[in-house]
Amino acid sequence: MTEKKRLVYITRRERFNAAHKLYNPNWTPEENEAFFGKCSNKYFHGHNFELYVTIKGYAKPETGMVMDLKKLKRIIKETITEPLDHRNLNEDIDWLKGSMPSIENIIVAIWDRLNPLIEDGELHSLKLIETENNFVEYFGE
Ligand code: NI
Repeated sequence: MTEKKRLVYITRRERFNAAHKLYNPNWTPEENEAFFGKCSNKYFHGHNFELYVTIKGYAKPETGMVMDLKKLKRIIKETITEPLDHRNLNEDIDWLKGSMPSIENIIVAIWDRLNPLIEDGELHSLKLIETENNFVEYFGE
């Protein structure tokens, strides 16, 4: 009898601090203020973002691991959290330019950068926390 394969989900959390504002340049300042409120403030505002990266896969017999979490930590830091830390998300980051830096758009851009680098298991989901009450999840669809 063959042993049942067990699909396991592993998650690494990393954090970064960054500034942004939500502002549609095609709208008047009054329209921006009416829709986005203080999120549209011209002096920007900051968040302590938390990013959860979840990989799914089968533990390898040699290591007992789906993916080495030290390696996942390094990939997330090098490609995402160090480049974004203490930056202005509207202005400083090439791969975020041209779209509103909402958490919806940021998480999709993070997926597109991380996904090609995951070789062990596969990227299952991302969760990006902006405030203790507001967060987004993305599953690659
Ligand atoms: Ni904000």
